Amino acid sequence: MLRTVLTVVFLLTGFAGCQAGDAKKGEDVAIEHCRRCHVIPGQNNMGIGITPSFKAMVQSRADDWRHKFEVFYALRPHPSFVIIQEFRTTPEFPLGITPVIIAVDDLGHLMAYVDKLALDLRK
Ligand code: HEC
Repeated sequence: MLRTVLTVVFLLTGFAGCQAGDAKKGEDVAIEHCRRCHVIPGQNNMGIGITPSFKAMVQSRADDWRHKFEVFYALRPHPSFVIIQEFRTTPEFPLGITPVIIAVDDLGHLMAYVDKLALDLRK
């Protein structure tokens, strides 16, 4: 319940409180935390199962691809293993999976990184 309230508050306020992101830091976050399952350009060639690659996502023709990155932690399957530090929530971990623990600022950096990827890859 608390998680839902915090998520809604965060979604409504968006990134207003965040500093402009740093794409390099965002890439580091993606390498450290997303590469486990997603294919990250220039990093790995294989992801896990049906997990979409970052390239495919930023090249998507759907207009909501960027929004999906902004709220990825609230989209399945992420809520079961992502902790945003400032929210201090405890997800129900599936057995044997290490949680992804990131800070709100990292979300801004991730957005700067995917914006840069989109610039490079959406041609
Ligand atoms: C444990 C595996 C795992 C990790 C780690 C992971 N993801 Fe995902 N992600 C998935 C899977 C599986 C899907 C596909 C979900 C679907 O299509 O229903 C997905 C989908 C997405 C989507 C698209 C969501 C949608 O509904 O279309 C975004 C955006 C995303 N991930 C971002 C990230 C970011 C950013 C990170 C790192 C901070 C990350 N993911 C870490 C497994 C993971």
